[in-house]
Amino acid sequence: MESLLKSIDTTRVPRHIAIIMDGNGRWAKSRGMERSAGHVAGVDAVRRVIEAGSEAGVEYMTLYAFSTENWNRPKEEVDALLHLIVVALERETSGMIANGVRLNVIGDCSRLPEESMESLRRSIDATSKGTGMQVNLALSYSSRWEITKAVRDMVDAALRGDIDSSSITEDTVSDYLTTRSIPDPDLLIRTGGDERVSNFLLWQIAYSELYFTDMYWPDFDKEALYKAIVDYQSRERRFGKTSEQITRLEDQI
Ligand code: IPE
Ligand code: IPE
Ligand code: MG
Repeated sequence: MESLLKSIDTTRVPRHIAIIMDGNGRWAKSRGMERSAGHVAGVDAVRRVIEAGSEAGVEYMTLYAFSTENWNRPKEEVDALLHLIVVALERETSGMIANGVRLNVIGDCSRLPEESMESLRRSIDATSKGTGMQVNLALSYSSRWEITKAVRDMVDAALRGDIDSSSITEDTVSDYLTTRSIPDPDLLIRTGGDERVSNFLLWQIAYSELYFTDMYWPDFDKEALYKAIVDYQSRERRFGKTSEQITRLEDQI
């Protein structure tokens, strides 16, 4: 079978793809395995999409790996997941370097164990010279946590006299988020069959195209990513304008 990579219009690749990697537990359960086996298999899917995204020319990929709300899962699952991330970072960093990937983390790092922070720092440092795709790992992340923090930081800055409330624009708000300097996602993918955003990048996905698939995350492969990109390219992004305005604009280019 020919790869869908060839069907992608290289002039209109989404610059930034955000992914809610869901369905690990159900994938494992459907095979009579423990939930943790699903998380282990999920790491292979992460490696595949990072390679596929790099090959397609995606510039930024933001992966929801652990949400603020996921802290409320059974302690054994939380501990296993956090440890798995350390193991995965140790194993995958050389591959990321080979692919030119630059790793970044977004989320409330203050809640992460020292072991996680150390391996994150090591991988971020080791990949910092990468000139290819930037991978943002969302860990202990939720959008409401991020927006609340941004509000606090803006109020503090105003009290210090560093900013003036009347000069706060949408760009100022964006600059106070963990995604500052990263363009908003063009495409948001959620695997696992549920059609919700579960507290992910609420501000940033204002005009993202949403793509849902029933596929469980450990089954997600390169072709699945290419299929989502091809689907994205079939859509007309109007940003509030009329279809005629968009077509006219395209004619001018
Ligand atoms: C997604 O898979 C991974 C994380 C949330 C960490 P789940 O663990 O949520 O799997 P399901 O949704 O229960 O199948
Ligand atoms: C979303 O999945 C979070 C991650 C993929 C990390 P969840 O499984 O936690 O989401 P809900 O609980 O189904 O909304
Ligand atoms: Mg889930």
